[in-house]
Amino acid sequence: MRITFCQGVLAVAIAVNLLILYYISRLQQRILHRHRDHVQPGSRQQLGLLKPGVTVLIREFEDFENYVPDVVRSFVRQKPELPVVVAADRLPYPPMVLPSAPNIQVVLLKPSPDQPALVFRPETYVRTEYVALVPDGVRADSTSQLERMVEELKDSQNQAQMVAAPVNSLAPLRCLNLKVSLKEWTAEYTAAPPASTLCGALRGELVLLLRTRDLFNLSVPLAKPSLTSLFVQTSLRGWAVRVLDVSFSALHRPLLTSSHNQWKADNLAKSHRTQLFQDFGIKRVILEDGKQQWFGCGKETPRCFGTIHDDTPEYLYQNRWTPPCCLKALRETAKYVINILEASGVRYWLEGGTLLGAARYQDLIPWDYDVDLGVYLEDIPNCELLRNAESGSVVDEKGFVWEKAIEGDFYRVQYSERNHLHVDLWPFYPKNGLMTKDTWMDHRQDIEFPEHFLKPLVPIQFAGFLALAPNDYRSFLELKFGEGVIENPEYPNPALKSMKKGN
Ligand SMILES: *[C@@H]1O[C@H](CO)[C@@H](O)[C@H](O)[C@H]1NC(C)=O
Repeated sequence: MRITFCQGVLAVAIAVNLLILYYISRLQQRILHRHRDHVQPGSRQQLGLLKPGVTVLIREFEDFENYVPDVVRSFVRQKPELPVVVAADRLPYPPMVLPSAPNIQVVLLKPSPDQPALVFRPETYVRTEYVALVPDGVRADSTSQLERMVEELKDSQNQAQMVAAPVNSLAPLRCLNLKVSLKEWTAEYTAAPPASTLCGALRGELVLLLRTRDLFNLSVPLAKPSLTSLFVQTSLRGWAVRVLDVSFSALHRPLLTSSHNQWKADNLAKSHRTQLFQDFGIKRVILEDGKQQWFGCGKETPRCFGTIHDDTPEYLYQNRWTPPCCLKALRETAKYVINILEASGVRYWLEGGTLLGAARYQDLIPWDYDVDLGVYLEDIPNCELLRNAESGSVVDEKGFVWEKAIEGDFYRVQYSERNHLHVDLWPFYPKNGLMTKDTWMDHRQDIEFPEHFLKPLVPIQFAGFLALAPNDYRSFLELKFGEGVIENPEYPNPALKSMKKGN
């Protein structure tokens, strides 16, 4: 077979093409490889390969005025190869001029859409076994400070997962216990006994050292304010922090030089704190001096849970109980309504789950979402607010909203126009010795009952005051809910969400 000149040229051209393709693919492979090498630190760390030593991680500083470059210099002066990571939400502005060295890095935590996610994760950059969280304005005075902290942490095996060194030995740290209950949406700080060295939380300025693996196994390792966020998360894991007699010096005091900058910093801190507690679902913070701070709903905000489906509020599915701000508002509304009923001569009694709560806890059931009162139908006209509610909703002088329910023949008093937490008033009338009514809800407890339970009504402790209840309320409750109901708590719709099965 003879090959023509044309065929020959064609064959050569194909061969050259194949060669080019081969080189292009080789080149791509190499680029991919290099990229993989580049992101290796993160994956390697996830595999558990961390180098011995400490990384200094600086997270708490203000963009508009800070001493971060001085802090970094003071640390690398002691040990030039010390890894330092400055973690900022976004590129600091005005620009932060850090010493230029491969071991000093700025990490931006806010993702940019053109970069892989790993780039924005600080754990990609922290490759040592230990990490020291260093606040702005701290000066390293000797190489041994961090090393001693590591030694002390190793010595505290199983007792403390973190160690802390105060900044400025003249300002000792305050050692606190911290109990966080997500179920009750509450964080409670209490002063630890004097001379305690193991604490749940600390107040004051400090350098905190812990295992890198522990820090990055928290839910949100670098949320702000750093210490508040860390201690809430660590106390949920039962970790403790040990205060050391190592201390650091302060570079500049005060840290912020103008009162305007101080004001800006205070405002930012406050909004970070509010955001943090909102994100964590903590609506009530009790401080060590007994003061309470609320981060939940109030008169001016909507109720903090949505419409209830199948008697099971959304928070039960989250394994939480009624937010404490809602319990507080329900107690306040109940007390207010009961005062008005008593003053206007309307006979009432605690009904349903509300009576059950009073019998069991002398309070609301901790997962309840409204208050139920029974009233005598014939007494309704005695109360002007109820009379007026017949013809439309009435906002009274205290901002409570009185209305005839659209769902049937009962009345509802709402906490406010915005916040629809409410007390329901169910009018009953006697008929052949039984108390009956015209609107029935599809609830086991919503049944007729003998009038003798109301003759007489008896006082019962409820939500911090005395309210009226049916006499022999144990039989009354067992008639409505079944035997043993006081002793055996259960969620309102156990088929959907049961306390016992924990489903
Ligand atoms: C991370 O935390 C979870 C629970 O919070 C724990 O079960 C797990 O062992 C931890 N992992 C490491 C590597 O510490």
